[in-house]
Amino acid sequence: MLNFTQSQKRYRAACEVMPGGVNTSLRRCWPQLVLVRSKGAVITDADGNDYIDYHAAFGPIVLGHNHDAVNARVRSVMEEIDLLGTGTTELEIQLAQKICQHVPSAEKVLFANSGSEATYAAVRLARAATGRKKLIKFQGCYHGGHDSLAMNVITPPEKLGKRDPLSAGSLTEVLEQTLVCSFNDLDDVEDTVRKHRGEIAAIILEPIPHNIGCVLPQQGFLEGLREITRRLGIILIFDEVITGFRHGLGGYQKVCGITPDLTTLGKAMANGYPIAALCGKRELMDRFNTHPNGNVFFAGTFNGHPVGCAAALSTIEVLEQEATYKHLFALGDRMRNGLSDIVSRLGLKATVAGFGSVFLTYFQEGPIRNYEDLIRNDSAMFVNYRMNLIERGVFKLPMNLKRNNVSLSHTAEHIDRTLEISEDVLRTMAKRAAVGEPATARL
Ligand SMILES: Cc1ncc(COP(=O)(O)O)c(C=O)c1O
Repeated sequence: MLNFTQSQKRYRAACEVMPGGVNTSLRRCWPQLVLVRSKGAVITDADGNDYIDYHAAFGPIVLGHNHDAVNARVRSVMEEIDLLGTGTTELEIQLAQKICQHVPSAEKVLFANSGSEATYAAVRLARAATGRKKLIKFQGCYHGGHDSLAMNVITPPEKLGKRDPLSAGSLTEVLEQTLVCSFNDLDDVEDTVRKHRGEIAAIILEPIPHNIGCVLPQQGFLEGLREITRRLGIILIFDEVITGFRHGLGGYQKVCGITPDLTTLGKAMANGYPIAALCGKRELMDRFNTHPNGNVFFAGTFNGHPVGCAAALSTIEVLEQEATYKHLFALGDRMRNGLSDIVSRLGLKATVAGFGSVFLTYFQEGPIRNYEDLIRNDSAMFVNYRMNLIERGVFKLPMNLKRNNVSLSHTAEHIDRTLEISEDVLRTMAKRAAVGEPATARL
């Protein structure tokens, strides 16, 4: 059992000065760690406990924590230039060129600091370009904290099919403009666009809904969305804030061969430094008032900050090396295969899911086509399994449906050690369940 005394002490201090002691609501969970160091695949807490990290800060850490090449580039840029607030830097030009080179939908690109800002701008642009108000999003997808999209992510069963805003204080008038469809259900989308003919500005989705783990799009679903949006003049937005750069330099759109009108990027783009991007068709992007003829407002004091741009350029350079994705995908496969063997050996009602460097174990049987199917996941088992892993030095966020990520810094040894610990924990949990004890008790 690990000792969390220092974390507990410092966390109490955090709570005195920050509501709940954390700066993002989803960072509040048990054990409430106070972290002091991160390097490669390992993070360290205030008690000196090391964890093999699969949380990856909700996804950005694709190369590993505190990556030497990225840090070196950032340090060297910091010696030369900082925020100027006028004109354009060479770094912004080079990064925009890289994104246009790699991401199929990117004819032009703008930078922001967070994924939420990018999706906010995408939605406003879609409304301006179409003169329509309504949006379609999918149950289980998350696109940031603004009223138009902050709803229906991990919805409690009794609220399924209803509007489920993430926040008090959201404007009903805004929420009402967003329609929620079921992922992988083209009939639902067809029905919705038929009922709201001429009213839909955009369909926005995570091409793989990673905010509920990893639900893969079924054959024909993304193609179908592309066909419907093209036919009806609706803007198709792929929110690739998670999938972009994690699943390939061109995002998931390159993998699946479907090109949206607009794409949002963030997270893995700069291996943990804050930068995000919105890119897409030239004629759409030129509507932003960064362009002399544009009238869609786009501004931000820190947009295109040299530190974020330098980190992104350096991260992309590492991702461009052939061995990088090979390693990420091979380790993802090794983990998924190992976990699948374990759950079948132990006879658990579980499904191992994932893509590339992303993996997780749902405690339910398939099929898993959308969030509605995931209501059957045993959330107590899911969270408790992860709490037990943390106590053995493996960090996966102990929160229902959250995915795990491997990075370039993970090795086959990390994976094998994780599998050993996972089997140990799962075997004990299965034994307990077999004799009628709660499988979810802490080990
Ligand atoms: C798919 C997706 N889009 C947008 C966002 C919002 O990004 P940010 O937290 O950087 O504002 C997130 C954050 O988790 C996300 O997962």
